[in-house]
Amino acid sequence: MVKIAVLVSGGGTNLQALIDAQASGVLSHGAIAVVVSSTPTAYALERARSAGIATAVANRKELNDQKAFEAAIERAIEQAGAEVIVLAGFMSILSADFTRKHANRILNVHPSLIPSFCGKGYYGLRVHEEALAYGVKVTGATVHFVNEIPDGGKIIMQKAVKILPKDTPQSLQKRVMKQAEWKILPAATDWVCDKIERGETL
Ligand code: GRF
Repeated sequence: MVKIAVLVSGGGTNLQALIDAQASGVLSHGAIAVVVSSTPTAYALERARSAGIATAVANRKELNDQKAFEAAIERAIEQAGAEVIVLAGFMSILSADFTRKHANRILNVHPSLIPSFCGKGYYGLRVHEEALAYGVKVTGATVHFVNEIPDGGKIIMQKAVKILPKDTPQSLQKRVMKQAEWKILPAATDWVCDKIERGETL
């Protein structure tokens, strides 16, 4: 069983999808060993505690130096013995030093079909606003490995979601989460853990 660290900053619905996937067996080759939050007030921490998962806080505001922030994350990951790191609504960009150290071991979920509507500044509702403004008829979500380029790492899994004529950024965000993010993040995480267990290269 591959140990997983989930990094969060907010509500944690993607974390919840991982917790549920672990309970249902969709995530069976990995187990969440720790949830690390960049803020002490993230509701995601409550979700972790309710599921009996260890938590840690690397306080982005107090540790305003990137090095100290990443060192705190590293400590939590090492303590938990985690090999795979999943970014689930984690709102900080990780340095090239950090991403290189964990090459092909960090996964992120992005709410669009990369390479559309992604990169620096594309997060939250903005992604969906831009998709609607452009007039695309299909959007979706992408799980990818994290490297030094924001949303630029190798794609692991994608799922398309149809845009409806009456969609608002909010309605689209909800549907993309429900139909795509919450499905492919656990599936991609399990796929990566399975590969690691088998000793296959990623
Ligand atoms: C999701 O839309 C995810 O794609 C993005 O941040 C949002 C996090 O939501 N990276 P949650 O905290 O998992 O509910």
